[in-house]
Amino acid sequence: MEVVLGVGGGIAAYKAALLLRLFTEAGHAVTVIPTEASTRFVGIATWEALSGRPVSNSVFDQVDKVNHVRLGHEADLIVVAPATADLLARAAAGLASDLLTNTLLMARGPVLFAPAMHTEMWRHPATVANVELLRRRGAVVLDPAVGRLTGADSGPGRLPEPEVIFQAALAAVDAALSQDGSLPQHGSLRQDDATALEILAGKTVTVTAGGTREPLDPVRFLGNRSSGKQGVALARAAAAAGAHVRLISAHLEVPPPPGVETIAVETALELRAETLSAAKDSDVVIMAAAVADFRPANPSGSKIKKRDDADDPVIRLIRNPDILAELVQARPQSAPAGQLLVGFAAETGDERGGVLEYARAKLERKGCDLLVVNHVGAGKVFGQDLNDVLILDRDGGTPIPAAGTKDEVARAVVEQVAAHLAPR
Ligand code: C5P
Repeated sequence: MEVVLGVGGGIAAYKAALLLRLFTEAGHAVTVIPTEASTRFVGIATWEALSGRPVSNSVFDQVDKVNHVRLGHEADLIVVAPATADLLARAAAGLASDLLTNTLLMARGPVLFAPAMHTEMWRHPATVANVELLRRRGAVVLDPAVGRLTGADSGPGRLPEPEVIFQAALAAVDAALSQDGSLPQHGSLRQDDATALEILAGKTVTVTAGGTREPLDPVRFLGNRSSGKQGVALARAAAAAGAHVRLISAHLEVPPPPGVETIAVETALELRAETLSAAKDSDVVIMAAAVADFRPANPSGSKIKKRDDADDPVIRLIRNPDILAELVQARPQSAPAGQLLVGFAAETGDERGGVLEYARAKLERKGCDLLVVNHVGAGKVFGQDLNDVLILDRDGGTPIPAAGTKDEVARAVVEQVAAHLAPR
C-alpha cells in the first residue's frame, strides 16, 4: 500500500520514526511529508534515510512531478502523526499552505490524525470544534493518550503509541476496503461504508464486551464462555467509522482495539454502573457483553475452605439487574435525543417456536431498537472467529442477515446502526 506519513511540529515527531518503521517493515511504501516546523525536531535527512525516498515539505520542489496533487491522489492511506493543534486547524479549515495540507485536500483514501499537544490546547473549544469537523467529514481522529507531557504537566495530549496508531490506521483502511477486497479507488468507498462514515463521524458510541465474572470469594468466580471478540470487533468498526468509542470491557480474551477509550470492569454491577454513566452522553449503546443473569448472594470475604468436618457449601444466587432494560427505561430522562440502543441475544429454537419468533419477542420485551441475534448451537458462537447473525429492528423491518468474520459482522451491525441513526 502507498502510505503518506505527515509529521507535525511537535516534540513527539521523533515517535513518527518508529511508526514509519512499522509501515515499512509490514511491506508498505511510505512517503514522509514533514511540516516546516517539524523539521526543527526531526530533520529531512532522517526521513529520507528511513523511508528510502526523497522528502520535501514545499510545493515548489520537484514541480514537474506535481507532488501537491500526485501524493494525495496516489496514497491509499494518509496518517498524520503527531497532529498538532495548528495542523488540525489548517486541515479543518481546508488550507493549502504547505505540501502536507495540499496532500490532505487531494486525499482519496482514509485519513487518520494522531493528535499530540498540551491538554489545554486539546480541550480548547477551537480544537474541539476542529476535531469534530474533521470526524464529521470522515477522517479518523484518535484521542490522544493520557500521561506525562513535555513539561511537568500531565493529562490527555500524549501521542498514542506508534503500534496503536499503526493498528488504527490498518483498521481505517480495512473499513474503507471495497466489497471485492481491493483498495478504494477514486471515491469508490462502498456506499454503505461511506454512509456509515458520514453518519457516525463525531458520534459517541459505547460498546460493552466480554463476560462478567461474579465473585464467590476472593479467588473464585462464576463466569461464562464469552471471548469478547464480537464486542471488540464492534468497537473497532465504530472507531473506523469515525465515532468516538468507549469500550466497557468485562473479561476479554483478545486485546481491546487501539485508539478506543477502554474501561475495564469485572462484575455485572460494575458493568451496570459504568454503562449507565456512559450512556448519558452516548448516541449509541451496543450491549454486546455477556452479562451474568445471576450472582452469588453472599460472596465470601475470604477463600472458602475445604473442611472435612463441614457440609459442602451451597451457593445461593440472586438476579442481576437487566442493564439493557434499565437503559431503555432511563432513556427518556437522561439520554441524548435519538439515542439508539442495541441488544444481543443468543437464541436456540425449540418445539414451541423458531429462533426468529423468540428473538422478536425478546426485542419487544427489552424495548431496544436493534437486536443482533445469534443462533447458538454447541460451540457455534463462543470464542469462534466466525459469526452468523440476524439483525432485527423494532419497526418490523426485514431481518438483515450478516455472516463472516466477527469484523465483517461488526461492520454490518455498524451499518445498520448508522442507517437507524440517519434522519428519516
Ligand atoms: O435476556 P438476555 O440475557 O438474552 O439479553 C441479552 C442482552 O441483554 C444482551 O445485549 C446483554 O448484554 C443484555 N443484558 C443486560 N443485563 C443483563 C443481562 C443481559 O443488559 N443482566
